[in-house]
Amino acid sequence: MHYFKYKKGELCCEDVPIAEIAGATGTPVYVYSYKTLERHFNVFDDAFKGTPHITCYSCKANSNLAVLRIMGRLGGGTDIVSGGELHRALQAGIPPRKIVFSGVGKTEDEIRSAVKTGILMINVESGDELAVIRKVAGKLKTRVPLSVRVNPQIDAKTHPYITTGLKKNKFGVLWDDAHTLYNQMGEDPYLDPVGISSHIGSQILELGPFVEAVRSLKSMALQLRAEGIPLRCMDIGGGLGITYRDELPPEPKAYGKAIENELKGTDLTVILEPGRVLVGNSGILATRLLYRKNGPEKSFYIVDGAMNDLLRPALYDAYHEIIPVNEKPGKRLKADIVGPICESGDFFAKDREMADLEPGELIAILGAGAYGFSMSSNYNSRRRAAEVLVKDKEFFVIRKRETFKDLIRGESIPSFLEV
Ligand code: LLP
Repeated sequence: MHYFKYKKGELCCEDVPIAEIAGATGTPVYVYSYKTLERHFNVFDDAFKGTPHITCYSCKANSNLAVLRIMGRLGGGTDIVSGGELHRALQAGIPPRKIVFSGVGKTEDEIRSAVKTGILMINVESGDELAVIRKVAGKLKTRVPLSVRVNPQIDAKTHPYITTGLKKNKFGVLWDDAHTLYNQMGEDPYLDPVGISSHIGSQILELGPFVEAVRSLKSMALQLRAEGIPLRCMDIGGGLGITYRDELPPEPKAYGKAIENELKGTDLTVILEPGRVLVGNSGILATRLLYRKNGPEKSFYIVDGAMNDLLRPALYDAYHEIIPVNEKPGKRLKADIVGPICESGDFFAKDREMADLEPGELIAILGAGAYGFSMSSNYNSRRRAAEVLVKDKEFFVIRKRETFKDLIRGESIPSFLEV
């Protein structure tokens, strides 16, 4: 469900034609729909109304300040994985008590900032990390709320690059090791074991793996409680999938109900870390056709967006629906839709059936709201795209396109090379 629709043959985001935005900002440009973001957050959050919970939006999916502010205004918190994301969350006004800190490699500085900020909890991922947290907490004389990220060894049946709950993955710790970590926490006055967490992967299309993970987390939590460790929350991570093509992900409602059933009778507060499901279909990347090229075996549409703007097709062979901004019935052809970067991996689609377009026409790459801009780079010294938020009839530039000056900011030529 999203608010990108054709109106009189013109693709609009809510009530604003994409062509109008592209004309104002240039291309490539990310366009997000406020109404879609709001709807997705509310549908997801409402799905858990039967369970005490906090929806901590996983901001790696899209960390623009405006998007974070929207989530915060709707009552959400944030799942962060770096000092940079902590900075963004605070700048956007997310209450510290709704911020959870995940990730296998938090630095001492990052841990110190999180402790000083007073966040909801840190998800510990190793004994070495716990030792650093203990040191920081002792120095700051601050009791730190902690949870251990357990690896429940569950196959989420998703792309190998985005599965995280298997034994061979770098994430989390096995139950026996987690148990040891909880016991260590119990011995230190500054370490406060408040929760248990897991995240089994991303773009998950079945409820089974979630239910299995929650079931095993619940039995661990109950065992820890029986041993006198008074856990209050269970962080079940993110991972709910979305439709890019013809996938049929579980409805948030069914997901919420399944978790509620599993946790009935416990008074654990559930922490949720959804990313993609909140923002994925709330955004598109609009790009302009530069040239057509007919090779001996293939036709190419060369557009002004590239893998530096949207990496998912190149990195995961991910499918994104691509449609013309001006509806074009009639002749269709098969083409690879590629960018200007000097890599064969720089493509948005291969052998895609498309309308017959002329150079200068705009196309929209759908489902680009999650892991789109946030994974973009400056490769080939391309300036990162502008980002726009639409609300009803208005649009707002929420990130300017980078300038050439931005591209070289912070660089310098050492004195021995001066002319
Ligand atoms: N929590 C943790 C600890 C995570 O590692 C992630 C995602 C999430 C929550 C949010 O997961 P989501 O609800 O968005 O599935 N770049 C890849 C996705 C990588 C996901 C990494 N972790 C992609 O473009 O498909």
